[in-house]
Amino acid sequence: MSNNGYVLGHSATEIERLKFQATLVRPYTQRMSVAAGLREGMRVLDIDCGTGSVSLLAAELTGPRGQVVAIDRSATAIKVAVESVRDENLSHVDFRVSALDDLSDVEGFDMVVGRYVLIHQPNAVEFLKKAAQFVRPGGWVAFHELNIVDYLPSFPTIELWDAVLKEVFTRFQKTCPEPGVARNMVSAFVSAGLGVPDMFCEIAVVGGSNTGSPEWLINTLRSMSDGAEQTRLADGREIQLDATMVELGRAIDAVHAQVMGPYQVRAWPTREHAVRNDRFYLVGPRKPSYLLPRQSNTRNRSISAIPPRSFLHQANTSRKWGPEMKPLLSHPVD
Ligand SMILES: C[S@@+](CC[C@H](N)C(=O)[O-])C[C@H]1O[C@@H](n2cnc3c(N)ncnc32)[C@H](O)[C@@H]1O
Repeated sequence: MSNNGYVLGHSATEIERLKFQATLVRPYTQRMSVAAGLREGMRVLDIDCGTGSVSLLAAELTGPRGQVVAIDRSATAIKVAVESVRDENLSHVDFRVSALDDLSDVEGFDMVVGRYVLIHQPNAVEFLKKAAQFVRPGGWVAFHELNIVDYLPSFPTIELWDAVLKEVFTRFQKTCPEPGVARNMVSAFVSAGLGVPDMFCEIAVVGGSNTGSPEWLINTLRSMSDGAEQTRLADGREIQLDATMVELGRAIDAVHAQVMGPYQVRAWPTREHAVRNDRFYLVGPRKPSYLLPRQSNTRNRSISAIPPRSFLHQANTSRKWGPEMKPLLSHPVD
């Protein structure tokens, strides 16, 4: 099965990084899954599931009356996923080594989900179209993506953190076939025949070296450096990864810095646009009660889809944070 130049690879370190990252972003995925309508009794397909964190979360939300089929092209990742299902004693999750293109004996899912997969596809619109073919009439697709183009700097400034973060984003942009997809969910969904989606976005904001942020940042860079212990930043600086991880942790603690991860963007069709291949249906999952009623003449659905406890920052509101805040950094996609 081809990796087609998949930037992060499937080394043992990358598998560990995926598991670690999954624990950091689980709360975001959980809120997003609930908002998208994932609920008890559903049949769910998780595409490119990696080590299975989204699949396990889906299995918790569907309960044993539901079912989760989860696929990934990496046998190594699926082996880890199968072991975690055994640990959790969940019998309604079926992990398979498969690419979406090769999947043929399942259909009619209530919801098809995927996290951090569209950026890696040669064509995100075609991928969405294919994903929608596995959904039953009135069912749903829901994708959770990373914005790897825009990022927020540390505050107070830690020059080394900002330089490494920039390096990770730049490498992602150069190597991912669809780097801008999280900024273009509306156009991707519309082009795939799924209508203008409901969306929301969250950003992890953490302080303190014990929050896992230095580990996440450095190990992501490590996976992008073929597991090497040393790598060169765009400004020519050579850095040792383990030593830099320690240095970043110390710097964060020393100035009580606040650092931010990538924008997490989730999109799913509106209730008027439940999927049936290329047709639209007027039925769909009930929205959670905390969602405000949509105003009849507004298209700004993201506002009505924000859970109350989320510390969401819509991309453009970051500029309101205060006079000392540096503007949002944005790097054009080549
Ligand atoms: C960043 S990981 C995310 C895994 C999982 N969805 C999660 O959120 O933890 C992307 C996954 O998609 C698979 N994948 C996506 N595009 C791929 C490609 N072009 N070639 C090989 N694998 C790919 C990888 O095997 C990997 O497990």
